[in-house]
Amino acid sequence: MQHAAVLIPGDGIGPEVAEAVRRVLDAAGAPVAWQTHLAGQAALDEGDDVLPDSTVEAVRDTGLALKGPCTTPVGRGFTSVNVKLRKALDLYAAVRPVRNLEGVPTRFEGVDLVVVRENTEGLYSGVENEITEGVVTSLKVATQRACERIARWAFEYARRRGRQKVTVLHKANIMKLTDGLFLRTAEAVAGEFPEIGFEALIIDAGCMRLVQEPSQFDVLLMENLYGDVVSDLCAGFVGGLGVVPGANLGQDCAVFEAVHGSAPDIAGKGGASPLALLMSAVMMLNHLKETRGDAEAAAVADRIKAAYSSALAAGAATRDVGGTLGTLAFADAVIERL
Ligand code: NAI
Repeated sequence: MQHAAVLIPGDGIGPEVAEAVRRVLDAAGAPVAWQTHLAGQAALDEGDDVLPDSTVEAVRDTGLALKGPCTTPVGRGFTSVNVKLRKALDLYAAVRPVRNLEGVPTRFEGVDLVVVRENTEGLYSGVENEITEGVVTSLKVATQRACERIARWAFEYARRRGRQKVTVLHKANIMKLTDGLFLRTAEAVAGEFPEIGFEALIIDAGCMRLVQEPSQFDVLLMENLYGDVVSDLCAGFVGGLGVVPGANLGQDCAVFEAVHGSAPDIAGKGGASPLALLMSAVMMLNHLKETRGDAEAAAVADRIKAAYSSALAAGAATRDVGGTLGTLAFADAVIERL
């Protein structure tokens, strides 16, 4: 079985890490036929839209993409490509597994949690207004439909993966309507999954408990902004942004991308870690088994995972996790062990 998939290299460190990941996937014999499409600054540089229709259509056609990071200007300029893509394809579930890796030094041991983030609404609706000079507002949107489907996704995932508990982090004491709806809906869905534990924590206290003992958490369920912030916090438990993968999943399409951004501070130097995008590619291959029954793809995923785990355990590491290897040298260390 061969699967057509879109490769969006992105910008900043995106093209460097995408190239490294593609090499590893090719060497492992991943059953994927790539179609490269641009987005972000790379698309603008070619005189195209920041998110060309052809890129969105290609992902819609194939149902599958591996995406490098795309820069979003802060406080000015164009809307985030990532937010646009997630909205265009209704990729409502952002899933970010956070685990300790042997060979990556961290402050915490035994971390194995999954952040599930609602990906389409909340404060990322982008509805901002200037009421009058010096007074601006941003609209936080919550719908019953989106709250329910993300809660259901989290519990179904927990059931499928044998996870024990779903914790919802919220601020329903202050945002009684929006976070209240998110919380009440999660509670109602939890009732349908009696074998899975459920807890609700106000997010400020929840963050304190997270940094005290992250290993007490299993699946974390959050609305959009909280999920964005807390997933980077959680990345810090296990070695930083270079070691946490992600998936953006919808009914018909799935886009896999690392949690990190385009890292302009190290772009073009060949030193970025390709690991987070490689781990995202492994999630993509496993997704092919879950959604299309392709056991061979999952076997390739297992081989890649074993190879990067063995490379890390042997001390092969990029600079962000205390090593000395550059992007392609790390990819080569993985390829050697396939
Ligand atoms: P960032 O994740 O790009 O960088 C934060 C820090 O982590 C930097 O010091 C960077 O060098 C380091 N880092 C990130 N990825 C790394 C890797 N693979 N290997 C080694 N070190 C790595 O976050 P920042 O600086 O806040 O954002 C830069 C740009 O990326 C912004 O325009 C932002 O909007 C965009 N961004 C895009 C995302 C996406 O496309 N999914 C996600 C997050 C941010």
